[in-house]
Amino acid sequence: MAILITGGCGYIGSHTCIELLKAGQDIVVLDNYYNAKPEALRRVQELAGKEFPFYECDIRDADGLRRIFAAHKIDAVIHFAGLKAVGESVQKPLEYYDNNVGGTVTLCQVMAEMGCKRIVFSSSATVYGMNNPSPLQEDMPTGAVTNPYGRTKYVIEEILKDVCVSDPDWTVVLLRYFNPIGAHESGRIGEDPNGIPNNLMPYISQVAIGRLPRLSIFGDDYDTPDGTGVRDYIHVVDLAVGHVKAVDFALKHTGAEVFNLGTGTGYSVLDLVKAFQDANGVEVPYTIAPRRAGDIATCYSDPSKAERLLGWKAAHDVVDMCRDSWRWQSQNPQGYGD
Ligand code: WQD
Repeated sequence: MAILITGGCGYIGSHTCIELLKAGQDIVVLDNYYNAKPEALRRVQELAGKEFPFYECDIRDADGLRRIFAAHKIDAVIHFAGLKAVGESVQKPLEYYDNNVGGTVTLCQVMAEMGCKRIVFSSSATVYGMNNPSPLQEDMPTGAVTNPYGRTKYVIEEILKDVCVSDPDWTVVLLRYFNPIGAHESGRIGEDPNGIPNNLMPYISQVAIGRLPRLSIFGDDYDTPDGTGVRDYIHVVDLAVGHVKAVDFALKHTGAEVFNLGTGTGYSVLDLVKAFQDANGVEVPYTIAPRRAGDIATCYSDPSKAERLLGWKAAHDVVDMCRDSWRWQSQNPQGYGD
């Protein structure tokens, strides 16, 4: 019995591999290295003190997937693989639909063919769109998304729910992540974005280490306590543990279930900058810039369903998140390198 992890070398995937191994699960990992490096895999094996089967494979490659399912008894799939840059998705929508939506359809077809009908999917709080008030709850309407990346997450959620309706043997667990930050406490694995980061924490870390001159804060006139955007930042290790619980749940249930994975607490951009400076004793110079298109003022979760049904609750606070992000960045100024 093993869990197949697609995109297992990426930021969230690599942390999830470690937590699954810690929990005693056998894992099989696949990644196409589009946005991840072999060094991440090497370090996961080093931290876990265990080797596991790895395949360089694209989720759109049905024959490649068939070979993996034929070689291992896979009980469930945790599906991380996908493109994830909001801005890029506006420029390259067809690549996003092909990789994310097409890839997931191919993966599910091969799963069904090979008799594995349990999937835990990496969804996003972005599916709640512009119109719902925080705290966001799982039964609120979804779909009013503002970009192709978000639309792929929404469409995949709908496809997976349809699959469950069509065949009662399927189990689908949709995990809506809020804003993952932080890194493994060893400082050995963490987020290593290609090029200039889009997301706030990697940007802050790269300013602090001197790779970037200053942070631009996108808008200080939102209807929030200090005018900057409020988000629900969650430690990536808590998120990884959430996947371990979600797999346990998937092994015992059928049908589709949706869970928010967040802390339930919102922090503003300025809160996070200050927490990072205080936790690490470093300066993060910033300027106020215009709002970024598509951003909303406030987005945080109601995480109580995950606590109730999965027995999961975030354990790390914002100081842990800032400290662990900085440990990773300062010990690996160039990420995993080339
Ligand atoms: C957080 C806050 C920005 C950068 C996005 C996707 C979501 C998910 C995570 C990814 C906002 C502000 C940011 C900067 C800033 N997808 N900010 N200066 O937008 O909540 O979520 O990433 O895989 O689907 O939508 O996260 O980290 O980009 O922004 O002021 O340089 O920081 O305006 O208020 P976001 P973020």
